[in-house]
Amino acid sequence: MMNYKIAIVPGDGIGPEVIGQTIRVLDKVGEKFGHKFEYTEVLAGGCAIDASGTCLPQETIDTCRASDAVLLGAVGGWKWDTLPGSERPEMALLGLRKELGLFANLRPALLFEDLAEACPLKAEIVEGGLDIVVVRELTGGIYFGEKGTKDTDMGLAAYDVEQYAEEEVRRIAEVAFDMAMKRNKKVTSVDKANVLESSRLWRRVVAEVGEKYPEVELNNLYIDNAAMQMVRNPKQFDVIVTSNIFGDILSDEASMITGSIGMLPSASLATGNFGMYEPVHGSAPDIAGKDMANPMATILSSAMMLRYTFGLSDEADAVESAVKKVLADGYRTSDIAKEGENAIGTVKTGDLIVEAI
Ligand code: NAI
Ligand code: MG
Repeated sequence: MMNYKIAIVPGDGIGPEVIGQTIRVLDKVGEKFGHKFEYTEVLAGGCAIDASGTCLPQETIDTCRASDAVLLGAVGGWKWDTLPGSERPEMALLGLRKELGLFANLRPALLFEDLAEACPLKAEIVEGGLDIVVVRELTGGIYFGEKGTKDTDMGLAAYDVEQYAEEEVRRIAEVAFDMAMKRNKKVTSVDKANVLESSRLWRRVVAEVGEKYPEVELNNLYIDNAAMQMVRNPKQFDVIVTSNIFGDILSDEASMITGSIGMLPSASLATGNFGMYEPVHGSAPDIAGKDMANPMATILSSAMMLRYTFGLSDEADAVESAVKKVLADGYRTSDIAKEGENAIGTVKTGDLIVEAI
């Protein structure tokens, strides 16, 4: 029997609620397929600030490093909104990405057949479903560049620097092309090479990497055009590779055309098979503690963990099929339920998925 060590970071708000159901699902998978998942729970975010004064305690980093994978809920909430930027719970995410070397963020945007009615685009635009993966660079670019303030003749100015090194672009491009080889052999690289020097370097390096993958078709799009194409003709996309900030925005846009943020998983990968898995959504303080959160995004994130870090694809398929079955049987949490439809809660959703597995 294989033993898998998972660091569990529930975080704040609905984080602990969606993580709780995901652990039940993993336990069921373990029981059915004969694996042992060993969990170590650690603090990050607002709860860590309250407990220890820092959003990312060293113990959390050490535990994550000593594990095979990390499963995270969400961090942040109204209670900590008045803290200065550098002390906010969300800094824990940036810290974990950096400390764990998680440079590639994978966000699938999958339109579930049974949720097609939740898609805000016209039916004919998404006919036949959608299956896009946004591969976002996660540890470089403007979020990590030099920042500061200075006096100017227009008053105080603040600046953030967008910078990319060739090696940073090369490794994220390789993740995207490798993924394309396992999918439909199509990569769209998104940048702003008409005005940004950093984007011109990005475009050159992506093209160089592409030469090693002659079977993969490479297209380049400017970010503004890509944002437009995403709602005009999203079916043209398969794998999208882009920088940290453009990927942040574009993956949120891609996710909304699939219905609800409560359905969307994500993976952040380092070299080797190490990864951190988390839902795309935040801590949803407006519904926290009310048994209303949709746990599917986190449960689907755990399926990605089974597939990408543990190499357990049958197990991952079992989780994804269970989610699809629950949707096909007509069950919906309030974020995806139609007007007037009876919504089920977080725990009930967990019950049904466990039962389906
Ligand atoms: P959010 O994703 O937490 O919530 C946006 C809206 O979607 C809310 O109306 C919420 O109720 C709903 N929602 C989100 N997840 C849901 C789920 N699983 N089921 C049903 N409904 C769901 O984003 P928001 O409101 O901008 O941020 C709230 C807090 O979360 C902030 O402190 C923010 O900084 C933090 N945050 C944390 C993230 C993370 O930990 N990865 C990512 C995004 C935001
Ligand atoms: Mg975002």
